[in-house]
Amino acid sequence: MKKKKVKINYKNIVKVIIIILLIIGIIIGIKEIQYRQTDEFKLKEIGYNNEQIEKISKLKNEYKEKLLKIDYNEFLLELYEEKYFIFDNVDKYLDYHLKDEVATSYDVVAKVNVGMDNEPYTNTKKTDMDKGNLILVNKFNYLDKKYVPENLYNIKDWYAYGENQIVEEVYDAFIEMYNSAKERNLYLIITSGYRDYDEQSETYEEYKDRNGTEAADHYAARPGFSEHQTGLCLDIMTYDTNTEDFENTNEFKWLQENAYKYGFILRYPKDKESITGYDYESWHYRYVGKEVAQKIHDLNITFDEYYAYYIK
Ligand code: DAL
Ligand code: ZN
Repeated sequence: MKKKKVKINYKNIVKVIIIILLIIGIIIGIKEIQYRQTDEFKLKEIGYNNEQIEKISKLKNEYKEKLLKIDYNEFLLELYEEKYFIFDNVDKYLDYHLKDEVATSYDVVAKVNVGMDNEPYTNTKKTDMDKGNLILVNKFNYLDKKYVPENLYNIKDWYAYGENQIVEEVYDAFIEMYNSAKERNLYLIITSGYRDYDEQSETYEEYKDRNGTEAADHYAARPGFSEHQTGLCLDIMTYDTNTEDFENTNEFKWLQENAYKYGFILRYPKDKESITGYDYESWHYRYVGKEVAQKIHDLNITFDEYYAYYIK
């Protein structure tokens, strides 16, 4: 029997191979084009490593988009991890970081959130009066010259040195706090409550004349910018001491542990000068109500930071 010879058509085989290779090439090309459009590729191109990209992939879209729009920025990744990071402030955080490269991400967020990336008394605005007990008054948020709180109450003279007034609700809270402290033989005496614009002006000018503007701005507010004009704060002292020594008294220690239970917070805490804009004042307590005072106490932040993040 004659064997049938199979004729191999090499030309056709080559053609098929070329077509297969072309298809593979096209598929690889498409995949590459698709990959180049992914965030992963773009982030790698910018300079982020795999570990960072993994983290970035879990971020909110707007956070990711910001990273894609700018050059490699490790600091922005740190900022994103800050508890009080506010996305609307992102460009301000980055600008501030350029000016002060040693500031930590916490400080940058805190300072920008409260406006301290600006020179004090610049970029000022009238404060939002609809916030009730939570009105913010600081070096960027002021009160009308004519603003006088409603329900001002004359403080009875055994609670205060000299004539003083505060808002009635604050007075009630103070009495509750006063009575609790008294049960432990501690005496909280008010040295200053509500101060109107003119009185604050006199106080500030006096300090200024004595020590110069720079020093005065550390411990006294300019008129219109003092919390004392809200009638919501108190300077507290006790017998046999002066203001500066108040922090060494048992009354102060008790306030540290208990003031928040009555709705008061220490408004200018130690080591927070760069956020509040004022030197530490162991005697100045602000009424914010029990709920908010408890939160501020638990979070261990200043009222300015709390306001920026939770109220504004
Ligand atoms: N001492 C505080 C800052 C005031 O003058 O209001
Ligand atoms: Zn004060």
